[in-house]
Amino acid sequence: MNTLKLLPTLLSRTAQNTLPRAFTSSVENPLDESHKWPRKIFSGIQPTGSLHLGNYLGAVQKWAELQNSGEDVTYCIVDLHSITVPQDPEKLRNNIIQMTATMLACGIDPNKSTLFLQSTVKEHSELNWILGSLTTIARLRHLPQYKDKTQKMKEIPLGLFLYPVLQAADILLYKTTHVPVGEDQVQHIQLTQHLGSLFNNRFGTTFPDCHAIIDRKEAARIRSLRDPSKKMSKSDPEVKSCIYLTDEPDVIVEKIKKAVTDFTSEVTYDPENRLGVSNLVAIHSLVSNGKTPEEICKDVQGIDTGKYKMVVAEAVIEHLKPIRTKINEYLKNPSELVYILDDGREKARTIAEETMAEVKQKVGLGANMSEFAMLKKVSKGV
Ligand code: AMP
Ligand code: TRP
Repeated sequence: MNTLKLLPTLLSRTAQNTLPRAFTSSVENPLDESHKWPRKIFSGIQPTGSLHLGNYLGAVQKWAELQNSGEDVTYCIVDLHSITVPQDPEKLRNNIIQMTATMLACGIDPNKSTLFLQSTVKEHSELNWILGSLTTIARLRHLPQYKDKTQKMKEIPLGLFLYPVLQAADILLYKTTHVPVGEDQVQHIQLTQHLGSLFNNRFGTTFPDCHAIIDRKEAARIRSLRDPSKKMSKSDPEVKSCIYLTDEPDVIVEKIKKAVTDFTSEVTYDPENRLGVSNLVAIHSLVSNGKTPEEICKDVQGIDTGKYKMVVAEAVIEHLKPIRTKINEYLKNPSELVYILDDGREKARTIAEETMAEVKQKVGLGANMSEFAMLKKVSKGV
């Protein structure tokens, strides 16, 4: 397995000029116009076992593209986030390994990206605490994901409330400038911007302003196959709403056949008015090597939506086939996967430690010899 051979760390890589135009906006901190930050990409995903098409097309496919265009990229499996709802320890451990295999199978290459497990870098929790002390309950209470997740809960875990603060810590710890995510994460990125600038205002410029990368409109929100007014989500109780990367071909055919469309048989791309069929066209376009939804509609002119579903199913199956094969290959060697996460941790930790030392020093935490020496002088009135 060639991709598993690790090259020396790539941490010192800075942004390169080989990017598509949409990605090349310069990033400045509004508080310090003279401060140019190197482009740094960071994103995270929960270890949920298998990815669904929404995660893959909305996020991970893009992560691999960014990596392959020479960006400085760090991707994190966010196990601390996943324990904000109850998890079976054995299952969680398996899901971490499964997610690592899936990341690699989707094209994340540890020679080009830093791929690591959140709980192995303790600085995430430390910065979470400091940022948690800067934000307010009022600011967190209104975040839509928190509201959605807790709607039916009687007892709300505190961790679920702090979830977006930990996410901000993940992002700021690496002085991230860009975060590739799906549309559902926009408010969390806004909170990160808010906390970063709050910290900068109070303690001096430390963090760049960060931006979400959501540049492929049709990928930003892949919809449920059973209720296209909702996003595709693993927590949907309706099994046929969601296609997993590990689904067998006949399961994919069955799910797409049952996809809810409307009473018009023509295939058009009209995401405002025809949610169901447009969702299928979007998925089809995203698994078809850069074909736009409009090109897809032209290609299938004259086919009705019933037959079109089989065309989409075939395209999805073809696209996912090599990924499924690779996931199974990687899973044959779990110790190799643990080794990759270990190596990623070493790379991530170097940066995280540096940022935390700076943060603690600015906040006045910790025992730093040179500062204590200065204090002694002050107390002696020198
Ligand atoms: P999650 O599974 O909620 O941890 O999401 C992982 C990543 O997938 C995040 O960047 C989400 O924004 C993205 N994502 C999740 N569901 C969808 C969806 N239905 N459409 C597009 N992106 C999604
Ligand atoms: N909240 C994100 C999700 O549900 C996962 C996540 C955690 C994340 N930390 C992050 C995403 C940092 C981007 C950056 O998908």
